[in-house]
Amino acid sequence: MNILHIDSSIQGDQSVTRSLSAAIVTHLRKHQPHAQVTYRDVAAAPLPQFSTDAFVTNSASASTRELAVALEEALAADVIVIGAPMYNFGVPSQLKSWLDALTIPGRTFRHSEQGVEGLLGDKRIIVASARGGFYGPESPMAALEHQESHLRALFGFLGVTRLDVVSAEGVRISPERADVAMRQAMAQVDQLQAA
Ligand SMILES: Cc1cc2nc3c(=O)[nH]c(=O)nc-3n(C[C@H](O)[C@H](O)[C@H](O)COP(=O)(O)O)c2cc1C
Repeated sequence: MNILHIDSSIQGDQSVTRSLSAAIVTHLRKHQPHAQVTYRDVAAAPLPQFSTDAFVTNSASASTRELAVALEEALAADVIVIGAPMYNFGVPSQLKSWLDALTIPGRTFRHSEQGVEGLLGDKRIIVASARGGFYGPESPMAALEHQESHLRALFGFLGVTRLDVVSAEGVRISPERADVAMRQAMAQVDQLQAA
């Protein structure tokens, strides 16, 4: 099994999603000790911004090569674990750049007479999500939730049918609420199917 582990939090060792994504990878490896893990920290080493050059196969530009490496890493993975904080109601821009590197016609989706076909149907995605507030369907903030919904919609478009979310919500409400959220999220990690 190949695991690709992505982190994108700017909050270093205070990061909730970094703790959760690491716990998820540890959980998977406990059951799959021979799994190969590739780690990419898109906050520490941001990917270049997207350009039309990214669609040109064999482009000589260094930034296009960097984006191509990120794409190949994802294509080689069986499981992709993504640390995905909510920043300003969406995913961090650094994570968006990684998502852009992945969304390449002919590689991860294609157009056909039948419509769009996603090509990542063999992959499992596990999202480690954290939010300062609450954005559930009953919440007055629900319309501002563009983080988890973005990831679900995009990976659905790319053909992924197996996507789990481990979520810590309300972590900025109070230290007590953050503790509860973290305990609940760690319990969700323990419940994840290991294969
Ligand atoms: C730059 C920034 C923007 C944030 N924007 C939001 C937001 O729009 N909504 C929210 O509920 N929490 C927001 N938060 C709180 C984070 O979602 C929370 O701190 C969470 O733990 C982030 O994940 P991390 O700890 O892995 O970085 C923001 C935090 C930062 C640092």
